[in-house]
Amino acid sequence: MKKLKKLLSAKKKLSNQNIQSNNLNRKVSVAPMMDCTDRHDRFFLRIMSKNVMLYTEMVATKSVLYGDRKKILSFSTEEKPLALQVGGSDKKELSETSKIAEDMGYDEINLNLGCPSKKVQKNMFGACLMKEPDLVADCIYEMVSKSNIPVTAKTRIGFDDTEDFNYLNEFILKIKKAGCKTFILHARKAILKGLSPKQNLNIPKLNYEMVYKIKKENPDLEIIINGGISKTSEIKEHLKLCDGVMIGRSIYQNPYSLIDIEKEIFNTIDNPTREQVAEKLLEYLEKEVKLGTKVNHIMRHTVGLYHGQIGSKNWKRYLSDNMMARDSDFQKAKHIMTIVQNNEKANQNI
Ligand SMILES: Cc1cc2nc3c(=O)[nH]c(=O)nc-3n(C[C@H](O)[C@H](O)[C@H](O)COP(=O)(O)O)c2cc1C
Repeated sequence: MKKLKKLLSAKKKLSNQNIQSNNLNRKVSVAPMMDCTDRHDRFFLRIMSKNVMLYTEMVATKSVLYGDRKKILSFSTEEKPLALQVGGSDKKELSETSKIAEDMGYDEINLNLGCPSKKVQKNMFGACLMKEPDLVADCIYEMVSKSNIPVTAKTRIGFDDTEDFNYLNEFILKIKKAGCKTFILHARKAILKGLSPKQNLNIPKLNYEMVYKIKKENPDLEIIINGGISKTSEIKEHLKLCDGVMIGRSIYQNPYSLIDIEKEIFNTIDNPTREQVAEKLLEYLEKEVKLGTKVNHIMRHTVGLYHGQIGSKNWKRYLSDNMMARDSDFQKAKHIMTIVQNNEKANQNI
């Protein structure tokens, strides 16, 4: 009887989750990136895009449970919709973390099954979990049972010598049965031995076909493709065969490319100019500095604002000379508006 009750309650959770999963727009999302997509970066990105889905950097479950939770997990409501990405393989820790994520107002919790770093492997999370489908399914099941927000997974398409459709498909099916409906597939296998995490982002070759095939085989799942995507024309092509596109490095390097995404993918009009972005950023900076945030912790994410534009060098030089030191002065930040206005004029005159 007890077992039946548990099963029925899990089933109810799953059907709830399906609804919630569908409510979030994951057509385009910004990839979780350690040391990049912190709360300040996400606020900055949100000034330019209201429609992309945002993810935190990966946070280990132990940090959530035993660390300075407020410092690690707090965010501004403007960043929403926002997913917390976690790393872990302990069912209990993961389920507790899911509940905490829900209580703190996150819209989704995502399990990292793609990070190949040695440290992460040593702690049994990330891409090495692709070798442990049953364990992953148990973890997902516990996460789904404990929270009401969608539980999603971000994984590679394979690992080491395994780049096999059937293996990946079975892996995904097991996790699906446990209650996960949304999969982000980094279209490149992970090399767990012999390559650094950085090399693992460029080697081996991307295999988009594998991701398309997973979507074709599982039309009921939400499949998000990731890896090496930057142009809106590429996003449009992928969206013909997948449900969503996740972009990492190219948005970090060229954040204003979010405006192209807003215009061309979401048909948004009235997008902010770079000058308006800088104005909003300055307001945020002032507020945060009063709360004790260091200027460089915010401004370091804005280096690419003029990527590919006239004035990019001036912008970067000013930031590097004045905004990147630990004790950078907020008063100097105000001068960015002069640089921005000069850059805007220079770009209008071409
Ligand atoms: C600096 C950096 C940090 C990353 N940190 C994470 C992370 O915390 N969690 C994760 O799932 N992937 C992480 N990744 C991988 C990205 O989420 C993404 O899968 C990868 O960069 C491929 O997408 P892209 O070619 O659009 O950059 C990181 C990538 C970079 C470049």
